[in-house]
Amino acid sequence: MSVIIKNGTIVTASDMYKADVKIEGEVITSIEASITPEKGDQVIDAAGQYVFPGGVDIHTHLDHFGTPDNFESGTMAAVAGGITTVASFVEPEKDMGILDTFKDWKNRRAKPSYIDYALVPTVTGKFSESTLEEIPALKEEGVGGLKLFLAYGHILSDVEVYKIFKKAAEYGILCHIHGENGPVCDQMIAEAIAKGNTDPIYHGYSRITGLEAEATFRGIALAEAANAPVRVVHVSCKEAIDVIAQAQSKGAKVLAETCPHYLTRDISYLALPNFEGAKYVCAPPLREKEHQQHLWDAINANVITTVGSDHAPVCFEGEYSKQRGREAFNKIPNGCAGVEDIFSVVYHFGVHEKRISLQKFVEILCANPTKEMGLYPKKGCICIGSDADIVLLDPNKTRIITQAKQYGKTDFNSWEGTEVHGVITHVLSRGEEVVRNGEVIGKAGRGQYLNCNNSSIFK
Ligand code: URP
Ligand code: ZN
Ligand code: ZN
Repeated sequence: MSVIIKNGTIVTASDMYKADVKIEGEVITSIEASITPEKGDQVIDAAGQYVFPGGVDIHTHLDHFGTPDNFESGTMAAVAGGITTVASFVEPEKDMGILDTFKDWKNRRAKPSYIDYALVPTVTGKFSESTLEEIPALKEEGVGGLKLFLAYGHILSDVEVYKIFKKAAEYGILCHIHGENGPVCDQMIAEAIAKGNTDPIYHGYSRITGLEAEATFRGIALAEAANAPVRVVHVSCKEAIDVIAQAQSKGAKVLAETCPHYLTRDISYLALPNFEGAKYVCAPPLREKEHQQHLWDAINANVITTVGSDHAPVCFEGEYSKQRGREAFNKIPNGCAGVEDIFSVVYHFGVHEKRISLQKFVEILCANPTKEMGLYPKKGCICIGSDADIVLLDPNKTRIITQAKQYGKTDFNSWEGTEVHGVITHVLSRGEEVVRNGEVIGKAGRGQYLNCNNSSIFK
């Protein structure tokens, strides 16, 4: 039995056309103006709908300490929202090396996934030397990326970053950097608290754009010194964009990501009364509104190449929640949910509100993330031979985003009450219908680990 998607409009990163899609088993086998179903074929009528490649969320933190979403609930939320592939960061474990931690996540913690997943180990100062030794084995395990922190505790020194860039490049592993000058952010936070400035808004005031730009510049310079490509995650401001654009214009291999919250929310949310601002504490912080246009412009100029959700959900109430920072903002756990809404929010604020084209939407949410993970064209495109990961979206319908109807486990939603154009009706993952009429019908545990091979980025 085949599945035929009929009468839809296929959207790719370069094109848009009406055609039918035939799926046999897990892959796309035919794309024709009209495909006649045979007896027993399942037909999905996509009249009036866009047929997109499945969304790819290249930046999630599933099953991290304190987050309510493990791989089961997080990927159920993801697929409801049109995401068919996630990359999730592997959090360092206290008494385990990066390789053993990675294997535990691959073979156990990520197994309940609804959709296919890649894993990206994070490296902190504590693990830098052992990581260097483990890079060859990580490559064997199919690791396509490593995230290096220039912010937070246990940051890596410049020499450690340089050494990891060099070794990772030797093995074709792309390093992702969190660009913020951690020690100076920490000093400014201490100064704010010493003055009694403890409200969430001071989170924004103490992690200033210049400190993001400085660390971004340094990270790129270290990558250049190591002759390595680099991917800058969660870019939030014009100053960092300028640094990235300048490096790219000189020919440096720099890839960059922003997130839906930086595109649609600004620093005023941190000032919401009754501690509501805590809901929006993430790092880098939300910026002044004018940065949003710079981010959209950078997407259109190919400076920012991907949008990832940075899904790092923290509840507002409960034992491990935003309430931890009632006394002082530096105790508020960082992070916002986004995996369930990234596709809708970027479609609505980007495509529907005419900030980006449909093709650009597919480029930043499907094709480029899979290219940067080393999964293209298996994932991220509607092509013959590709995995049949497909999203049908009705552009003429609207819905209101609300926590009450979400699959994710947070007790609030950053876009609560926002009406978005574009409703996801069906999602297929490797040919299996996993969302029908907006309801998740797929099963936990059907997702597969993805071996990444991003050697093309190193050419
Ligand atoms: O605030 C954030 N972004 N939390 C998740 C960790 C990170 O730095 O990506
Ligand atoms: Zn980060
Ligand atoms: Zn993150």
